[in-house]
Amino acid sequence: LGAGPLAGRRVLVTSGPTHEPIDPVRYIANRSSGAQGTAIAAALRDLGARVTFVTGPATVPPPPGVELVRVETAREMMAAVEAALPVEAAIFAAAVADWRVENASGSKMKKGTGGPALSFAENPDILATVARRAEGRPRLVVGFAAETDEVLAHATAKRARKGCDWIVANDVSPATGIMGGTENAVHLITETGVEDWPRMDKAAVAERLAARIAERIA
Ligand code: C5P
Repeated sequence: LGAGPLAGRRVLVTSGPTHEPIDPVRYIANRSSGAQGTAIAAALRDLGARVTFVTGPATVPPPPGVELVRVETAREMMAAVEAALPVEAAIFAAAVADWRVENASGSKMKKGTGGPALSFAENPDILATVARRAEGRPRLVVGFAAETDEVLAHATAKRARKGCDWIVANDVSPATGIMGGTENAVHLITETGVEDWPRMDKAAVAERLAARIAERIA
């Protein structure tokens, strides 16, 4: 058994994008390197936690020393998250695609006949589903809010709408260079207010967040 303030505690982290197929070779997705989620999983592991890491097809490799569950679509991610419960804390860092293609084709679509007409269905909101569970809800549910304007207003509203305990909010407008970069500047929105954290490495954001999680659940 590991040592550290979270020794033996079960936690869950989602990370990366999801891919929603259009046909066997094409998909829609959100932009996500998986860097912040991966760093958070590693930081929780370093505090001794037993981490289930549910990741879509990210560009950064998953951390060693976690229970790795690879998924492709939002619905697969939802199922993997449900299967990982119960946990004491769940951190939803994945950039889940909001829609899936309802009329995805089982064979490769041919070009030259005009663009295909795609119809979309809404994906399950994994964070909101877990945060609103009547039974077996993690003691701490943390969501992310990547915004390009009115970051705090949108993130505060999101915290209420999703029913999560904390929101890690960040400004991902292109000028910040945060998306796909190594640094992040976040605000932590809790039940007691808003903290503005200085711009730092994604690894440092992860360590600080993991320490706060440990304080809360240990
Ligand atoms: O609604 P929005 O995508 O902006 O919310 C972001 C937060 O919700 C992130 O924590 C993300 O991981 C989570 N989320 C989710 N399932 C979805 C959409 C978002 O878990 N389908």
